[in-house]
Amino acid sequence: MESLCRDVADAVQEAVEPMAGREAAGEVMGMGADGTPTKRIDEAAEEAALEVFEEHGDIRVVSEEFGSVSYGDPIYTVAMDPLDGTYNASKGIPLYAVSLAVADGDTVEDVFYSYVRELNTGRTYTARQGEGAEFNGNPIEVTNGVGTDEMTVGGVYNIEHFDPGVFDRVRLLGCSSLEMCYVAAGRLHGFVDMRAYLRVLDFAAAKLAIEEAGGKVTTGGGDRIDEKLEADRRSSVVAAAPDSHKAIMEVVR
Ligand code: IPD
Ligand code: CA
Repeated sequence: MESLCRDVADAVQEAVEPMAGREAAGEVMGMGADGTPTKRIDEAAEEAALEVFEEHGDIRVVSEEFGSVSYGDPIYTVAMDPLDGTYNASKGIPLYAVSLAVADGDTVEDVFYSYVRELNTGRTYTARQGEGAEFNGNPIEVTNGVGTDEMTVGGVYNIEHFDPGVFDRVRLLGCSSLEMCYVAAGRLHGFVDMRAYLRVLDFAAAKLAIEEAGGKVTTGGGDRIDEKLEADRRSSVVAAAPDSHKAIMEVVR
């Protein structure tokens, strides 16, 4: 799975690079399976990825724009966001990623391998169930034992009665898969998105990375996330190291 994901990410990176920051990248091509408009740069990313999957065969792919497609006799499902951070990519803001979550069942809890590549730099976050998470091949861990007043938290959408001063810093970077991987790597202390609007395809891979890095990922209500790996499934997300997760839940509930 690792080499397949690497080949897919290489193809997406090659397709996206010449378009990033160019006006044509943001041109709307139609409506995606997730119910939001597909931009030219999304389409290029997805087509490049699907070509590699098709050549590999025996795999089912669920993707944001296309929906679900099966090649050969599938053993696994890959939940893919071929381009997370479309706005950033189309405007030349260098924070966008390809997110791949490989599952042996049909829910986000069945993901056993994940691969997220920051496309502008090639930096990669991977995780394998029961074996930990890595950044560029080196083990990573979430940062624990920090009070909310010392935390830097990403996402931070729709928290009712929210006082940004509760946290030391907030970062809204426009690419949820990366923001969550930054939690896995201890670059951010937490990630909070209370909109119930984040696509499962955006966070399925990064969820495994955080869990394998020792963190906890739940809905905004503190429940486990067992959504189906489908293009139109969405959820709220709170993610952090276990102690920090508890502290963040007290702020956002
Ligand atoms: C978006 C990004 C963004 C999040 C949006 C997503 P897309 O994904 O992850 O950070 O706030 O909800 O739609 O559309 O660029 O793949
Ligand atoms: Ca996308």
